[in-house]
Amino acid sequence: MKTLRAVITGTGSYAPSRIMTNDDFAAYLDTSDSWIRERTGIRERRIAAEGEATSDLAVEAAKKALESADLTAADIDGILLATATPDIAFPSTACLVQARLGATRAFAFDLNAVCSGFVYAMTVAKSLVETGAARRLLVIGSEVMSRSLDWKDRGTAILFGDGAGAVVVESSTTVSRGLGSFRLGADGRHWEMIHVPAGGTRLTKEAATIRMKGGETFKMAVRQLQESVLEVLALDGVSPAEVALLVPHQANVRIIDALASRLALPPEKVMVNIDRYGNTSAASIPVALDEAVRGGRVHEGDRVLLTAFGAGVTWGSGLLTWEADLQKRSRT
Ligand code: UT7
Repeated sequence: MKTLRAVITGTGSYAPSRIMTNDDFAAYLDTSDSWIRERTGIRERRIAAEGEATSDLAVEAAKKALESADLTAADIDGILLATATPDIAFPSTACLVQARLGATRAFAFDLNAVCSGFVYAMTVAKSLVETGAARRLLVIGSEVMSRSLDWKDRGTAILFGDGAGAVVVESSTTVSRGLGSFRLGADGRHWEMIHVPAGGTRLTKEAATIRMKGGETFKMAVRQLQESVLEVLALDGVSPAEVALLVPHQANVRIIDALASRLALPPEKVMVNIDRYGNTSAASIPVALDEAVRGGRVHEGDRVLLTAFGAGVTWGSGLLTWEADLQKRSRT
């Protein structure tokens, strides 16, 4: 039997149209555009319209990913949706997306690893495809973080935004590399570092808004991202210099800069779009990847490195070789 490889064949993203600037916060909070830009790299973020939910964003991103993969919803075997902000408690948001897309053959489930969700979902997708359990998957990261914010807390409200990104992951006997090593981690002892205390079964009277120990999170993120990235690079025998593009979770530009400098990666090899979106949690990597692909920053054969850290705490990294065109040509 031929070896099955998992390969990305399409990407898509969607952001709500309403833009909220740093000055919009400065108008009512004790903060400023310059503080937010200098300490986080964020200039503006997108905010979902009233009535617009996580599934609405996910459907738009998924449609674009299918289009770029030259596939239709009927070709999809499964939908993996990474989100910490589902439409409703259950059923999964993935099922709502499946119905809206008309992906009638697809199984569907949500996965929650907060900001690391997309890397977690990609790791599951790779395993499903390489074991032959599924041939074509939609992997989506979609979040409406704005509904979980304490708008009066300047330490968190300014950081987050809404958005969705999606990729099509396909099985291939043609490509030689595709998705390489992926590794995940978690340390639940730090669950309080970033959390929303209500909305689950451990009922509290507290509001369902994000609480974060920013400084601790920052330090742990830098340390853990570096360790996680070096682990997957070593597994695939790839040196940091061979990485064509780093697509990190967009939580703070200073975290990204610290990681890039530890890996000696120049700015042209690092995808940054936090200035326009803020932290969109599980959506940030697929949105950044889609923008990199559509912006001509990813070429056939390029090594692309994904890495994320977030609430849980959780982290994960993955190395892939971009072989979308090769796989699409082999279909016909
Ligand atoms: O996606 C999940 C992972 N999340 C992250 O990785 C987030 C990691 N953390 C961060 O990005 C940063 O820690 C923050 C952006 C949240 C905070 O930046 P910081 O440089 O660590 O600031 P700080 O928390 O040490 O606060 C420094 C000062 C404080 O004032 P005092 O105590 O020195 O008087 C804060 O109250 O900055 C103040 N401050 C602000 N000032 C203006 C905090 N937020 C703001 C604000 N505007 N929005």
